Amino acid sequence: MTVPIAIIGAGIAGLSAAQALQAAGQTVQVFDKGRGSGGRMASKRSDAGALDLGAQYFTARDRRFVEQVRHWLDEGSVQAWKPQLYNYRDGVLTPSPDEQTRWVGIPRMSAITRGMLGDLTVSFGCRITEVFRGQQYWHLQDADGCNHGPFSRVVIAVPAPQATPLLAWAPKLAGIAAGVQMEPTWAVALGFAEPLQTPMQGCFVQDNPLDWLARNRSKPGRDEHLDTWVLHATSDWSRQHIDLPKEQVIEQLWGEFAELVGCVVPAATFSLAHRWLYARPAGNHEWGSLADPDQGLYACGDWCLSGRVEGAWLSGQDAAKRLLSHLD
Ligand code: FAD
Ligand code: NAI
Repeated sequence: MTVPIAIIGAGIAGLSAAQALQAAGQTVQVFDKGRGSGGRMASKRSDAGALDLGAQYFTARDRRFVEQVRHWLDEGSVQAWKPQLYNYRDGVLTPSPDEQTRWVGIPRMSAITRGMLGDLTVSFGCRITEVFRGQQYWHLQDADGCNHGPFSRVVIAVPAPQATPLLAWAPKLAGIAAGVQMEPTWAVALGFAEPLQTPMQGCFVQDNPLDWLARNRSKPGRDEHLDTWVLHATSDWSRQHIDLPKEQVIEQLWGEFAELVGCVVPAATFSLAHRWLYARPAGNHEWGSLADPDQGLYACGDWCLSGRVEGAWLSGQDAAKRLLSHLD
C-alpha cells in the first residue's frame, strides 16, 4: 500500500507543493477548510460578480516563477493587467505609470488555483484541528471529529498563526511559526451603476487609512455590469478597527475613497466588506519552508519568504523539494 502525503491548505503554497510532489510520483491528499481553493487568492462571488478581494495581481521576479507564469499564460489562466496607475500622497493624486508586468487570473484570480487542482484529491470544507502520530504514521483530526489517515508525511500550508497548533509534534517549528506576526486587512468592494468619471484603474495610497484601490473590471476577462472598486485599508487601520461592524467599515472607507478619487462618487449600488485576519506577514523571511525531516512534518506559505503570491508559490516548491530529498 502506498501511504499518501497529507497537505493542509489548498492556497497557492499548498497546491504548489502538491503539484511538485505529484509530479515526482508521490500520492498526495489535500485538505482545506474553505469551500474552494485559493485562500487569499480566492475571488468572492457576489451580486456584483466575482470579485478579487484578496490578492489583486502578482509580479514574477524569480526565474522559476517566471517559468510557471509562462505556463499559466499558455494554459489561458493568467493575463497581464496594465492598469492606469496612480499614486496618492499628501492629498495629491498623480498618474504613476511604470514598466512592471502585473499578472491576474482569468476570468478571476481563483482561476489559477482552480487550474492547479487538476486530478489532485482534495477535501474541501474540512478544517484540520490536530495533526498527530500513530504508531508509525500521521493522522489528521478535523473539526467534525473525523479522523483522516494514515499519512507518511504532512505538509502544513496555512498562515503561521493557524500552522502553530498543527505543528505541536514539532515544537521547534511551532516556535518559529508562533514568532511570525501576521497583519490584518479590511477589504471593501463598492459597485456603481454609472462608471465613475476617472481614468484611474489602480492606485497606491500613502499616509491614509487606505493603501490600495483597484477598478475590478479594468482587469482582463471581467464582465461585470457595475463599475466595482476594491479598496484595501492599511494594516494599521485594519488592526485598529478589527472589530468594527462591516457597515461602519464600508462607510468609513467609502468616505476616504470619495475624498481621494478626484471625481463625484455617488452612493454605491452595491457594497461589501471582508476582513482578512491573516493578510500578510509583518516582515519577510528567508526560510523557504520549515522542515522536521525526522518527524516528517513540513510547513510552507508566504510567511516563509515574502508575503506575496510569488513567495507562497516558491515556498510550496521548497517544501516539496526538501521532503523529496528526505525520502529513502
Ligand atoms: P493562503 O492563501 O492563506 O492559503 C491557506 C489555505 O489554508 C486557505 O485556503 C485556508 O482556507 C486553508 N486553511 C487554513 N487553516 C486550515 C485548517 N486548519 N485546515 C484546513 N485548511 C486550512 N500578494 C501579491 O502577490 N499581490 C497582491 O496584490 C496581494 N494582495 C493581497 C491583498 C490582500 C487583501 C491579501 C489578504 C493578500 C494579498 N496578497 C497579495 C498576498 C497573497 O494573497 C498571499 O501571499 C498568498 O495568496 C498566500 O498563499 P498561501 O498558500 O501561503 O496561503
Ligand atoms: P509591485 O511591484 O506592483 O508593488 C510593490 C510596491 O511598490 C507597492 O506596494 C507600492 O508601494 C510600490 N509601487 C509599485 N509600483 C508603483 C507605482 N507605479 N507607483 C507608485 N508606487 C508603486 O508588486 P509586488 O512587489 O508584487 O507587491 C505586491 C503588492 O501586494 C504590494 O502592493 C503589496 O502591498 C500588496 N499586498 C497586499 C496585502 C494586503 O493584505 N493588503 C498582502 C500582501 C501583499
